[in-house]
Amino acid sequence: MVKKILICGAGGFIGGHLTSKFINDKDTQLVCADIKPKEYWFQIFDNAENYSLDLKDYNNTLKVTKNVDYIFNLACNMGGMGFIENNKAECMLSVLINTNLLRAAIENKCKKYLFSSSACVYNGTKQNNTFIPGLKETDAYPAEPEDGYGWEKLFSERMCRHFTEDFGLETRVVRFHNIYGPMGTFDGGREKAPAALCRKMINSKNKNLKKIDVWGDGKQTRSFLYIDDCIEGMLKVFDSNSSEVFNIGSEEQVSINQMINFIEDISSYQVDKNYQLDKPLGVRGRSSDNTYVAEKIGWKVKTSLKDGLTKTYHWINQQINSGTNIDKFSKSNFEK
Ligand code: NAD
Ligand code: GDD
Repeated sequence: MVKKILICGAGGFIGGHLTSKFINDKDTQLVCADIKPKEYWFQIFDNAENYSLDLKDYNNTLKVTKNVDYIFNLACNMGGMGFIENNKAECMLSVLINTNLLRAAIENKCKKYLFSSSACVYNGTKQNNTFIPGLKETDAYPAEPEDGYGWEKLFSERMCRHFTEDFGLETRVVRFHNIYGPMGTFDGGREKAPAALCRKMINSKNKNLKKIDVWGDGKQTRSFLYIDDCIEGMLKVFDSNSSEVFNIGSEEQVSINQMINFIEDISSYQVDKNYQLDKPLGVRGRSSDNTYVAEKIGWKVKTSLKDGLTKTYHWINQQINSGTNIDKFSKSNFEK
């Protein structure tokens, strides 16, 4: 039987990859929605129903959820640390997207709804050291998430739970930990560390400069998850029968300096680091503990950071050096 799937935020990084995964499935009809004008969608396919509209508006959510079976909500006004630390109110306004989509899902009798949460929901006091034990799903409480963006995500997670309990809507929630890969933003203010540092290395190499700017002292840690693993994990959670919250992240915890060393290897170029301590830093250390998601869902990471960064670096290098698509993948606030 043909199923109808709505992908919200389809013009963005993860939404674009999810769309490309389903697009040739003959049993699936795709509805894609994003606030951006269509020429700025990272990936767009003619054989999907594509809508450029604001999902904060309830009437728009009613329109795109009509006759839809399954909803993936990947729409959010977000970015890396440079964006979320400086746009807390904008980040919190994304609560309207989730609220109105949930209401519309009930109104239009949709069958299942996935919300994309974030590792930014985790309690900040558990992330004060450089190398920390991976964060378990239970570490979100007692609540002390990232100000602005993290609070919105935590609130929206809970709203999904209550829509399941009170209205019987099947919901799924994934907590993504810093996802990276080709076809994502790499400049303009919303980019995250992997893409930003690949871009900086490419620009230095192009201009024969021997230095790159690094936010912080480089000792802070993260784990980074390659996009193919993210899509696979999200779909496994979606197909499962659990409405609990699951980490979709990597357990390969590295410092920013270690990641730069990988990028130096990939680019065959060495640089000095200009540490900028006044830039947005976020938590001191973060990584994922995947014990629970492996046990309950059977999902495991397949791509090493080095392999994922190699693909990402070469894709960004191609965009920069061919000069194509630079605007699409780097404009920051065009949707306002
Ligand atoms: P992205 O910015 O590339 O994609 C989000 C898309 O949502 C954008 O295309 C944007 O235009 C769209 N959007 C924003 N406001 C909208 C609105 N009002 N109406 C309709 N569309 C709107 O981000 P992404 O990396 O693809 O992230 C997807 C989801 O995953 C988001 O919920 C994000 O918070 C979550 N997430 C991502 C990461 C990561 O590292 N990429 C980490 C944690 C959580
Ligand atoms: N963005 C960026 N750009 N970060 C840099 C840079 C740079 O040029 N240089 C060093 N960093 C450092 C940041 O200061 C931060 O300490 C670390 O790299 C990681 O930064 P980001 O990748 O921007 O974000 P994050 O990991 O703190 O948070 C991201 O991941 C969350 C999920 O794990 C954000 O994208 C959140 O929106 C997301 O939810």
